[in-house]
Amino acid sequence: METKLVKTKIEQVEPKLFAATVADEITACITDVLADKPKCSLVLAGGSTPAAVYRALSVPPRNEQIDWKRVQLFWGDERWVPHTDNQSNFKMVQETLLSKLGTNRPEVYGVDTALGSTELGAKAYAKAILSACGGSSVAELKFDLVLLGMGEDGHTASIFPGAEIPEGQICFAATNPHDHTKRLSLTPAALFSARRIIFIVNGENKAGMLKRIFAKEGDTLELPARHYESAAERVTWFIDTGAAKELKL
Ligand code: 6PG
Repeated sequence: METKLVKTKIEQVEPKLFAATVADEITACITDVLADKPKCSLVLAGGSTPAAVYRALSVPPRNEQIDWKRVQLFWGDERWVPHTDNQSNFKMVQETLLSKLGTNRPEVYGVDTALGSTELGAKAYAKAILSACGGSSVAELKFDLVLLGMGEDGHTASIFPGAEIPEGQICFAATNPHDHTKRLSLTPAALFSARRIIFIVNGENKAGMLKRIFAKEGDTLELPARHYESAAERVTWFIDTGAAKELKL
C-alpha cells in the first residue's frame, strides 16, 4: 500500500511582517468559517509569540473585518494562576485583544483557574467546551481554528516532552517540567481534530527544534509538536526567517 506522504504548509515570513501576515490568515480563516456557519470556534495559543498577532487582530482593519460576536474563544492551554497574574494566558489575551474590541466582543471561554485543582479545572473546562461546541466527547469535538506555539523543547500548548496524556479526554492537568508549575492543556486529540491548525513559531532559538520536528526525529512523546503530523494537511506553519534558519525551504 502506498504510504501517503502528506506535506504540511510552511510559510516563511520576515520578522517585521510576521504579526500582520498571521493576523491576515486568521482573519481570512474566521471569515471563511462564518460564511458557512453561525459561529467560529477559535482556540488561542499562549506564551509571548501570539501577543503581537492578537494586537494586530484588535486594530483596524481586522477588528472590523471579523464579526467577533460570532466567534467563540477558547485557550489551548493555561498557566494555573489567577487571571490577574502576569503569567496568565487569559490576561495576555485580555490585554492584547479583548480589551480593545469594545462591544464587538466574542464569547469568551477561559479556563477557571480559581477551582481547587488542575484536575477539577480540566473536568470543568471540558464540560464548558462541549456545552459551547456541542457533542458529548472529544471524538465529536471539532474546533474550527486552533493556534499553537512551539517551545524550544518541542512542546506545544502545555503538552511537554514525556507527558502522560489521558486517552479520550479533551483537556488534562499538566506540569511544566522546567519550573514545575501547574498547567492545564487541551489534549492532542482535541487540538489536532480541528478543521484548521496554525502554528506560529519565531526566533532563531527555535530553529534547531524546527529542524528536528520536520526531520521527524524522535516521536510525539519526546517532541509533542510532532503531533501535527496527524493533521498535516490541515496545518499551516508560520515561521519567521530566524526560526527557518536551519531549514531548507
Ligand atoms: C504557553 C504556550 C506554549 C507556548 C510555547 C512558545 O502557555 O506558554 O501555550 O505552548 O506556545 O511555549 O512560547 P513563546 O511564544 O513564548 O516562545
